[in-house]
Amino acid sequence: MKHGEKMSNKPSLVFTIFGSTGDLTYRKLLPALYHLKHRSHLADDFEIRCIGRRNYTQAEYLEIIEPWIRKQTRFKFDEATYHAFTKHIRYVQMEFTNMKAYGLLEDYPCGEDNLYYFAVSPEFFTVISEGLYKSGYLKNGTHRVILEKPFGDSLAHAKQVNRSLNQWFNDKHIYHIDHYLGKEMIQNILAIRFSNRLFESVWNSENIEQIQITAAETVGVETRGSYYEQAGAIKDMLQNHLLQIMSYVVMERPSSLNSLDMVDKQISVLANVSLDKLVIGQYGAKDEHRAYRDELNVDPDSKIDTYAAVRLHLVEGPLKDVPIYLRTGKRLSQRATYIKVIFKANGNDLYQCQRHEVLTIKVQPDEGISLSFNAKKPGTINTITEVKMDFCQSCILENRINTPEAYERLLDDAFNHDDGLFTPWPIVELSWHFGEAVTQKIEKENIELSIYPSYTQGPVEADQMLKEDGYYWLEEDELSY
Ligand SMILES: NC(=O)c1ccc[n+]([C@@H]2O[C@H](COP(=O)([O-])OP(=O)(O)OC[C@H]3O[C@@H](n4cnc5c(N)ncnc54)[C@H](OP(=O)(O)O)[C@@H]3O)[C@@H](O)[C@H]2O)c1
Repeated sequence: MKHGEKMSNKPSLVFTIFGSTGDLTYRKLLPALYHLKHRSHLADDFEIRCIGRRNYTQAEYLEIIEPWIRKQTRFKFDEATYHAFTKHIRYVQMEFTNMKAYGLLEDYPCGEDNLYYFAVSPEFFTVISEGLYKSGYLKNGTHRVILEKPFGDSLAHAKQVNRSLNQWFNDKHIYHIDHYLGKEMIQNILAIRFSNRLFESVWNSENIEQIQITAAETVGVETRGSYYEQAGAIKDMLQNHLLQIMSYVVMERPSSLNSLDMVDKQISVLANVSLDKLVIGQYGAKDEHRAYRDELNVDPDSKIDTYAAVRLHLVEGPLKDVPIYLRTGKRLSQRATYIKVIFKANGNDLYQCQRHEVLTIKVQPDEGISLSFNAKKPGTINTITEVKMDFCQSCILENRINTPEAYERLLDDAFNHDDGLFTPWPIVELSWHFGEAVTQKIEKENIELSIYPSYTQGPVEADQMLKEDGYYWLEEDELSY
C-alpha cells in the first residue's frame, strides 16, 4: 500500500501490549494511544490489553498511567477524553514466561484483527509468540506483531529470532519499529529531495562534497544502565536509526512511494555501504555528573561505547565515493539530530567564491530546513556574500500541535495495516551486517575507546577523523561552510 493512503482511521482492533508496566509503554505507547483517541482515530470497540506481571487492579493501573499521559500529551489534557480513553484499556495480570498462564487468555478472546506490541527485551519475543501459538490463540483472525529494537543482540541471534517468529507469524505481519522513521522531518527528506528540481538535479557526487548526520543527546544512560551495557551507541543508534536516516538521504529515486519500491532502494544503499573509519568513545565525569562507568547497573570496567562516529561511502550509484559521516553520542553538549548536505564550492572564475552551499535538515528537537548559498553583497563592488534561508517548522504553533509524535504516527499506520514506515527483515539483517562490520573493525584494528568529558563535543579523535579529510563537523546552527 502507498504510505498514507486508504486510511480508514477508525480500525476495529484488539491491541495487546506485552511489557505494559515498562518505560516505553508509559512514556510513548499510552500517550500515543491517547492522542489517537483525542483525534478520534480509535473505533468505539478498539481494545487495548495491557499485559503485565505486576499485581495491579484495573483501577490501580489507570491511576499509574494518568500522570504519564498528562505529562506527555501534546494537546491540552482533557478529562472527558481521558475518561473515554480509559474505557478502551484492560489491564491483564499475567506472567508471560509461564506457558500455563496463556490459558487465562480464554477470558480475553482475540478479535478478527489483532496486533501485539512486544515492548520487552528481545529475549522474550520467542517465548511470547510460542505461548500465544500453543494456547491456540493465533488460530482465528489476523495476527500481527510490532517488535521493538534492538532486534536480537547479534546477527546470529537476530536470524534465530526471525526464524522462530516466522513459524508463528506471516513474514508480512511482522513489523520492526524504528521510531525515527515516524519523525516528521525524516519523512520530509524524500519530499525535499524528490519534489524539488533544485535538489534532485544536484544530488550526485559531481555536486555534493560530503554528508554529515548527527544524533546527539545530552542525557546519559539514566536508569537504563543494564540495557545499555548490552547495546552501546553502535547497536542502540548507529546501526539502526542513523543508518535508516542515511538511507533516506542517499537512496536513489524510488519508482513510487509504495513500501516495496522504497525498501528496494533502501536495500540498494545498505548493500553498497563501505565502512572507512571509526571512532568510539565513552563519557567520563564532569563536575558532579558521574562517568558512564559509575552509573547504576554499569560495570566499573565497562568497555561499552556511548559515542560512535564513522566515515562511510557508497561503492555504487550517483553518490559513489562521497564521504558520509555519521556520529551519535550521549552526554554531549547539545541535544540535536540533524543532517548537513555540503555542496562543493563553486570556485569559478567569475566569482572567486570558495564558500559551500549547505542544506541543513533539522530533525529534533527543532524541526526545519535551512539553506545557505551565495549572493552579491549590496554595493558597487562585485563581492559575494552568504545568504541564509531558514524555515523553522516547529516554530509554528499550529505545526507543533498538528504534528503527530513518531509513535503516534507509526501506531496509527500499523492499526490501518500500512507497513510503509516499518522496517522489513532484509533491512534489519543488512543493518546487523553493518553493525558486525563495525565490531569486527574495532577488534581487527584494536580501536581504543576514547573517554570524553561529559557535555562536550565527544572524543577529539572524531574531530581528527574529519580533519584528516580536510573537513570539520558542522554544529546544528552552523549554516555556512
Ligand atoms: N524505553 C524506551 O524509550 C525504548 C526506546 C526504544 C526501544 N526500547 C525497547 O523496548 C523494550 C522495552 O523497553 P522499556 O524501556 O520499556 O523496558 P523496561 O522499562 O525495563 O520494561 C520492560 C517491561 O517488560 C516486563 N518484563 C521484563 N521481564 C519480564 C518477565 N520475565 N516477565 C514478565 N514481564 C517482564 C517488565 O515488567 P515489570 O515492570 O514487572 O518489570 C516491563 O513491563 C526494550 O527492548 C527496549 O530496548 C525502549
